[in-house]
Amino acid sequence: MILFKVFPTPEDLALAAAEEIASELEKRTKRKSRSAVAVSGGNTPALLFSVLADKYRNRINWANVNLFWVDERCVAPDDPESNFGMTERNLLSKVEIPSGNIFRMRGEADPQQEAERYSEVVGRNVRMRKGFPVFDLVLLGMGEDGHTASIFPGNDKLMTSDKICETSVHPVTKQRRITLTGKVINNARSVYFLVTGKKKSGIVEEIYRNNAGVQKYPAANIKPVFGKTTWLLDSEAGMFIF
Ligand code: 6PG
Repeated sequence: MILFKVFPTPEDLALAAAEEIASELEKRTKRKSRSAVAVSGGNTPALLFSVLADKYRNRINWANVNLFWVDERCVAPDDPESNFGMTERNLLSKVEIPSGNIFRMRGEADPQQEAERYSEVVGRNVRMRKGFPVFDLVLLGMGEDGHTASIFPGNDKLMTSDKICETSVHPVTKQRRITLTGKVINNARSVYFLVTGKKKSGIVEEIYRNNAGVQKYPAANIKPVFGKTTWLLDSEAGMFIF
């Protein structure tokens, strides 16, 4: 099931996303022993994390959340580029999540070795189904080129790989990345895309309308078989819907 929801501003989007994610996690963390959540980097999640920390910190039983990363830039955790660092500043430093529940991708490590290590960490700590981990909730963004996670256009290997984690390279900055693969993301129970800005509306519209050739955008290929996908857009990214 794929849903598209549009909100007036990025702030409204972050508030709505926090409400949806908090209520989903509130239910899961009461019912289940542990929820496996994987988060992305970028500016949009940063806004969401601040809202989650400020308004929803007590609604989620963080002791029952195992937190993973969808992808990481190959930099140290204190580097301004670090997805972990961004999550730490905006969320982890503000909520009572046990350190043992935080499974950081080590951006400072050798990329290939870390991709292999992280694949084992996820394999040990996330429930498996048909050979792939089942994340309860995955938070994604989408780049202006239609990439998601660190799966960039033309890198189809990352959509077909049977590994949990692989390395990749940003096509413009040549920055090395570590990323969950497409099959892992598509094995999730619930995927949220948070997308803002006019520059992304064209690709979002192509995905929304399922135009011919849309598969060239990695984000278009995220359609969990057993789960639901919710696209949360601000009015600029979702202007085509009006
Ligand atoms: C990353 C992210 C990446 C991000 C998109 C959108 O590490 O950069 O995982 O996939 O979600 O580039 O980023 P913005 O939300 O900042 O536009």
